[in-house]
Amino acid sequence: MATGTDHMAMNTVIHNALRRDLARLDAVLAGPLPAERRAAVCAFVPWLVRTVHHHHVGEDEGMWPRVVAKRPDAAELAAVNGAEHDAMVVASDRTVAAAAAYDADGSDANREALRAAVAEMAGVTLPHLEHEERDSVPVVVATLDDADWKYLEKNYYRKGMSMKDASTSLMWMADSADPAGAAALRSQVPGPVRWILGVTSGRGYDRDAALRWGSLAGRRA
Ligand SMILES: [Fe+2]
Ligand SMILES: [Fe+2]
Repeated sequence: MATGTDHMAMNTVIHNALRRDLARLDAVLAGPLPAERRAAVCAFVPWLVRTVHHHHVGEDEGMWPRVVAKRPDAAELAAVNGAEHDAMVVASDRTVAAAAAYDADGSDANREALRAAVAEMAGVTLPHLEHEERDSVPVVVATLDDADWKYLEKNYYRKGMSMKDASTSLMWMADSADPAGAAALRSQVPGPVRWILGVTSGRGYDRDAALRWGSLAGRRA
């Protein structure tokens, strides 16, 4: 049975995947892109934003209400986290719009506008991730029990995810995962499931990642 610490280790894996791809987007958009890479980068942005949004909905609508029900003194921390997520939604939506514009017209101006939108998104996202890991995780781990985590897994974290999204997001989390991240994935996802998803989705993920990131693409843990 996964503990709260295990669940929060997965939270860090997701955060690190987001940090990694915000940095990759910044790097890859620094210069003109061939048409195929531009299309791959622009197609990836809405997927990334959707995946991160799913993570936040689980926190805002699932995790925090359960924490606050047991620890009313955590209400302010929950509200601050929710406000930080809201700021990320605004910046993420701008990034999706900028990616659509760059996809439609690969001008340098559109590429630079997308890079600026990514920088703005990183500007609100990175402090939030750090804030959550530093101040929220200890409170969450100390408050929620096994029944809470079971409920959250079923009703939020896995809910509404197609098989394809679930398997792609697992490949995305495993991409360049550090040893702690790789251990978290091993403890949370049964070996046979990881193996099957790796076979069915791993190659496609690697091909898409190579297309959008080029030499910045990493290895899956
Ligand atoms: Fe999180
Ligand atoms: Fe968060």
